[in-house]
Amino acid sequence: MKLTQTIAFATAFSAMLAPSLAAAQSAPEGAAIFKQQCQMCHVSAKEAKPTLAPNLFGVGGRKAASSGFANYSPALKASGLVWDKANLDRFLTAPTKAVPGTRMVIALPDAKRRQSVIDYLLTLK
Ligand code: HEC
Repeated sequence: MKLTQTIAFATAFSAMLAPSLAAAQSAPEGAAIFKQQCQMCHVSAKEAKPTLAPNLFGVGGRKAASSGFANYSPALKASGLVWDKANLDRFLTAPTKAVPGTRMVIALPDAKRRQSVIDYLLTLK
C-alpha cells in the first residue's frame, strides 16, 4: 500500500472506531450516574419486575411506553416516540418539556453526564 493510501485508510478506520470507543469509555461513567440518579425508581436487568418505573433493559430502539409497565402516563403512551439516541437526549434534557404530562420528572441537564447515561442505557440489551 502506498503511504497516501495507508493514511487514508487509517483516517477512515479511526473515524469509524471513534464513536464506539467514546461510548465504551463513557458507558461505565453512565452506569455510576444511573446508580445515583435513576436506580431508585428504575430496574434495568433483563426481565426484572418494574416497581416505581419501567424496566429500562432493552430501552434502546424500543417504542416509548411499550415495556409492559402498568403505570405509564397517557402522555408517554401517546407520544409516538422511539427511544433512539436523539429522542433519549431530548427527553432526558427536560422530560416534562419533551413529553408534557409524563410522570418521569428527573432531568439530566449536563450534556456530558446525559451522554454517558445514554451510552450506558444503550448497553442494556
Ligand atoms: C422518581 C422516579 C424516577 C427516577 C429517579 C427516574 N425515572 Fe425515568 N421514569 C419514571 C417513570 C414513572 C417513568 C414512566 C413515565 C411515564 O409513563 O410518563 C419513567 C420513564 C423513563 C423512560 C421511558 C421508558 C419507557 O419505557 O418508555 C426513560 C428512558 C427513563 N425514564 C430514563 C430515566 C433515567 C436515565 C433516569 C436517571 C437519570 C431516570 N429515568 C430517573 C420515574 C423515574
